[in-house]
Amino acid sequence: MPDRFDLIIIGAGPGGYVAAIRAAQLGLQVACIDKGPSLGGTCLNIGCIPSKALLDSSELYALAKSRFDRHGIKVGDVGLDLAKMMERKNRVVKGLTDGVAFLFKKNKITSMQGTAGLAGAKRVIVQKSDKESTTLEANAILLATGSEPAALSNLPFNGTTIVSSTEALTFDTVPGQLIVIGAGYIGLEMGSVWSRLGSKVTVLEFLPRIVPTMDAEIAVLLHKILEKQGLKFHLETKVTRATARGNQVVVEAETKSKAVSFEVDRVLVAVGRRPLTAGLGLEELGIIKDAKTGQVMVDEDYQTNVKGVYAIGDLIAGPMLAHKAQDEGVAFAERLAGQKAHVNYAAIPGVVYTWPEVASVGLTEEQTKERGQEYRIGKFPFAANGRARCLDETDGWVKIIADARTDRVLGVHILGPRASDLIAEAVNVIEFAGSSEDIARICHAHPTLSEAVREAALAVDRRAIHA
Ligand code: NAI
Repeated sequence: MPDRFDLIIIGAGPGGYVAAIRAAQLGLQVACIDKGPSLGGTCLNIGCIPSKALLDSSELYALAKSRFDRHGIKVGDVGLDLAKMMERKNRVVKGLTDGVAFLFKKNKITSMQGTAGLAGAKRVIVQKSDKESTTLEANAILLATGSEPAALSNLPFNGTTIVSSTEALTFDTVPGQLIVIGAGYIGLEMGSVWSRLGSKVTVLEFLPRIVPTMDAEIAVLLHKILEKQGLKFHLETKVTRATARGNQVVVEAETKSKAVSFEVDRVLVAVGRRPLTAGLGLEELGIIKDAKTGQVMVDEDYQTNVKGVYAIGDLIAGPMLAHKAQDEGVAFAERLAGQKAHVNYAAIPGVVYTWPEVASVGLTEEQTKERGQEYRIGKFPFAANGRARCLDETDGWVKIIADARTDRVLGVHILGPRASDLIAEAVNVIEFAGSSEDIARICHAHPTLSEAVREAALAVDRRAIHA
């Protein structure tokens, strides 16, 4: 007899593990299966967490090397122990993945390692090893297998010199020359890490601008700042091929006017991710996917066209972000338990963890224009913020877009120190349908970076105090 549960979840990333915990809190018997040796999926093991650990370490290294002097701190020769930096990153990852295992135990969730696939609308087969498999049954099955790096056709990953973000998190030496293909989230974050640690980083981007999903004005400013930090950019450059030659790689590309080539040590391909559905048995069950994107189609309960089979996170439409998957995990579990949860897709922040950071929520200025909406803009530079000056972090702006008639906040875009934390206030205001006047009237502690958000809100009405 197969083991029976109320809910089987395939995938223990931020979507799957959060759904498992919330469903268990609501009294469901839950099993969660993951093929990886530790819980937490891409985010905790080979994505958000290890990349932020390296971003934080490399930022400190860069500060110690070139900026401590400005604070009057003499440190002598600053050296790099890459192995130790990687060990610290691994410890951070282990602490957090062990934490998820602890939470599973605490919530009495059955955790299983193995490769799972659907064997019917209520049945899952888990291949634990070559010889051992087990069958589980449940009334509800949630697919939360996430995504994998997309490869380019003439540049297949080889795991050593032409790599995805997974390997770029574990290089054992600093590449002399690194080509990054794609100026999106991963390209700019991993490009920043290796540039700070000493690589000569060149970013090749197909489009005429970097971070295409972010506000264009902020992107232009970020581009300039990253160039000052040493990253080189070639925009409107289409990579056509890469060929590994011993320890080197030759990358061929086309700009608008000519063919160019680069000979480098490593190539990081960061041109997006695609939903990971292979081997799940979707075709056999007739589960409908979007023909173009490969995303699984779901309704407002996250249910596929097959009753009892659900999907969330990177597998379905929307930005491939851990916090979006987590929110969907909670909403899915609560709706399964009969509650009326929902995710507000208009208030999902996006953050690029360069330094300074970029954080954004709501409409960009371009999207606001496209909608034909009348709007007002308030901007405030960190150079005029007291705390930013104390920190010696004066690059960047806060930009608020508000409806010209109602003053409702439509979008907030921050380029600056700790933008990732500052954006939370903007997300709150958008969630509560607040106005720029609301932000302007709320008391903000002094001296803090958050005052720049308030000043940008005041600037919407042309009454910023400090600019
Ligand atoms: P992305 O979609 O952010 O950026 C890919 C970039 O590659 C785009 O600028 C695109 O124009 C460019 N590109 C595509 N094909 C190209 C070609 N042939 N030659 C040159 N450039 C080309 O994708 P990325 O950076 O790989 O990240 C994947 C996903 O992971 C993103 O959707 C993001 O949501 C998520 N992510 C989120 C992070 C965060 O929240 N901080 C960090 C890392 C990843």
